[in-house]
Amino acid sequence: MIERPQVSESEMLRQREYMKLVKAIGERPQTYHIVSMGCQMNERDSESIAGMLEQMGMRCEPVREQADLILYNTCCVRENAENKALGNVIWLKELKKDKPELLICVGGCMTQEKGMAETMKKRYPFIDLIYGTHNLYRLPEYLYRVLRDRTPVVEVVETDGEVVEGMPEKRASAFSAYVNIMYGCNNFCTYCIVPYVRGRERSREPEAVIEEALRLRDQGVQEIMLLGQNVNSYRGGGAEFANLLYRLDRLEIPRIRFMTSHPKDLSDELIGAYAELKHLMPHLHLPVQAGSNEILKAMNRRYTREHYLDLVSRLRAARPDIGITTDIIVGFPGETLSQFEETMSLVNEVRYDSAYTFIYSPRTGTKAASMPDDTPAEVKSERIQRLIARQQEITAEILSGMVGSRQTVLVESVSARDEGWVGGKTPRAIMVNFPGDASLIGRLVEVEITSAGRNTLRGRLI
Ligand code: SAH
Ligand code: SF4
Ligand code: F3S
Repeated sequence: MIERPQVSESEMLRQREYMKLVKAIGERPQTYHIVSMGCQMNERDSESIAGMLEQMGMRCEPVREQADLILYNTCCVRENAENKALGNVIWLKELKKDKPELLICVGGCMTQEKGMAETMKKRYPFIDLIYGTHNLYRLPEYLYRVLRDRTPVVEVVETDGEVVEGMPEKRASAFSAYVNIMYGCNNFCTYCIVPYVRGRERSREPEAVIEEALRLRDQGVQEIMLLGQNVNSYRGGGAEFANLLYRLDRLEIPRIRFMTSHPKDLSDELIGAYAELKHLMPHLHLPVQAGSNEILKAMNRRYTREHYLDLVSRLRAARPDIGITTDIIVGFPGETLSQFEETMSLVNEVRYDSAYTFIYSPRTGTKAASMPDDTPAEVKSERIQRLIARQQEITAEILSGMVGSRQTVLVESVSARDEGWVGGKTPRAIMVNFPGDASLIGRLVEVEITSAGRNTLRGRLI
């Protein structure tokens, strides 16, 4: 991996000046509402956006229709994500008719797609600001221009982003925090648009990551989730990912998790870390995508089914209580019934705690988009239904096996359905609901598991 320069401190200071300038404008938005779509990396970016907007003197408005500034942080990983983002934007046009002073900003992965910003500019002239993934840190400058000139700003840069340190932030949770360790992706899986919209891999310096983790620990954070498209190829300061985990484990933050891991780069050292580290939680999200070697090859995943299964058994040997979850794509171009059956048999062999399953969605500009795909949509849909049904049975069996056990739960929230109940996750990242009140939020508590639902457990505080 090539070491990337950091955005200079003077540039970050310049942006801070723009935040002050925006704040000083009389006729500026007072409130904002951010809609975050897609993955955790977008959620983390939204925390930086919120931080910048707060520094500009705005406050969060939970009701979207009432905000003076609405910002969409978009995703484009599948067509339906993109349609959802575009549908939302069109709806904003109506809102703006009644509220002409509304500021509309759209950024994130969708606007970074080739040609997308220009198309949006023509089709949706009511959008005030369009920016991409690489220049998010310049949001203050762009907003200042929008407010000063009262004309739309469209700025999407094609170059890879650098590493950006020192952006303001407003964290969504006081006890569980996302920590970026790397950005971008070099893998070019043939179906995937992420490398095109997030640029090449670049790692943060380990010292920067540790400093952030220390700060979070001192604020009382109980759990950190390290983020990257492929954390296993982290190379900050020349050190590998497992090395960073060992250093973070010493900070005594109760829970460390990470996402996402690519099977081809999962090292022996990382497997060793699962055996040794006290705070590394026994959960691993290890996307397999497909069970057939031919399909894996066509996807350019660069591992085989056998290698994947070997990783799983070594991980379980190192940490017998580890829960493994995955992502699976059904209906990749040319997938035959027997190739799909190999995915089914792999799911039976691994016995995942849970799986995110997707029907393949062609993405313009990716290699797979030009591969012949003659499987009818109904067949793909039947296949995914079968897969989901089988995975549900496995999940149910795994969860039933936990009834009667005692689990440490990090309480996250009060149940939306019943105010007398709270929910949180076990070390293995399984959701447990149990009677309790808001005072438990953010605390690690002991719970006895009394029954199992479809995807969650129920229990009682002990
Ligand atoms: N970096 C992560 C994945 C990021 S995208 C990794 O490599 O595991 C999250 C998931 O979306 C992928 O794991 C994949 O299962 C799915 N996905 C990505 N592109 C897709 C496409 N074109 N169609 C359907 N699913 C897709
Ligand atoms: Fe996409 Fe593959 Fe990179 Fe994951 S590893 S982001 S699936 S290209
Ligand atoms: Fe979507 Fe971008 Fe994440 S495309 S999945 S928001 S990296």
